Amino acid sequence: MKVINTIKDLSSELESFRKANKSIGLVPTMGALHAGHESLVKKCVEECDITVVSVFVNPTQFNNVADLQTYPRTFEADVELLTKNNVSIIFAPTVEELYPEKDTRRFNYSPLDTVMEGQFRPGHFNGVCQVVSKLFDFVKPDFAFFGEKDFQQLAIIRKMASELFPSLTIVGCPIVREADGLALSSRNMRLSDQGRKEALTISKTLFASVEYAVKNNLLDTYKFVVDGIAANNNLELEYFEIVDGLTLQKVKSWEDSNYIVGCITVYCGDVRLIDNITYKKN
Ligand code: PAF
Repeated sequence: MKVINTIKDLSSELESFRKANKSIGLVPTMGALHAGHESLVKKCVEECDITVVSVFVNPTQFNNVADLQTYPRTFEADVELLTKNNVSIIFAPTVEELYPEKDTRRFNYSPLDTVMEGQFRPGHFNGVCQVVSKLFDFVKPDFAFFGEKDFQQLAIIRKMASELFPSLTIVGCPIVREADGLALSSRNMRLSDQGRKEALTISKTLFASVEYAVKNNLLDTYKFVVDGIAANNNLELEYFEIVDGLTLQKVKSWEDSNYIVGCITVYCGDVRLIDNITYKKN
């Protein structure tokens, strides 16, 4: 396994693999790796000859300076986890390496990127598309792996890849949860012991809403989740939306689509947590 910091070294390293007709898989990450990332890495190692994992906290996708500053950085532990999983290359560039000059490109995948996170984190997905498109350009992977926890991000990256990188296959991987249900996130590290307990209300409410949805209409199910979060004084709901799983637009009834997902963002203290649940997928 090699840790590579420059685009030049990455390109020359990958060139030999490409000439030897090896399939290349990319797992883009911002580090602070947990079992959720590990599941992406394992899938990539299983399916591709060469696995590249990028570890880069991308400043252009943070619309809040404090969030960027407090984002956990655990590079040594990350290298250990990736070594254990037989990753071929860790690409860990500096900000200057990836952005030698200001990236002024604008990505517009409206209405996918204007709803939900797009509303509350203006510019976030533009930054994600900037860094991910750079990584796709530099690595030229055959496959790239992303988690379904960032449901909206995955939909936008699929759209971007279909337009700009048509030969690349995007692989979505299921959410990995703690035994008690909490969706794994690098941000969980920032929860206090009490916060960790409160945060459990999010997945519990989502799971309970799937049961509730069996016998109730969509609007009542929506209310069930909103009320469930509001009942916990230590949580603050930013949004909950029940959307079509492909267009990400709100649906009003269970009959409106064959693929229906509930997407939620909740503040637990100052920690912003996101999760989602599938209500229907035919
Ligand atoms: O999902 C993430 O961790 C990031 O948004 C990504 C895709 C690595 C881009 O920085």
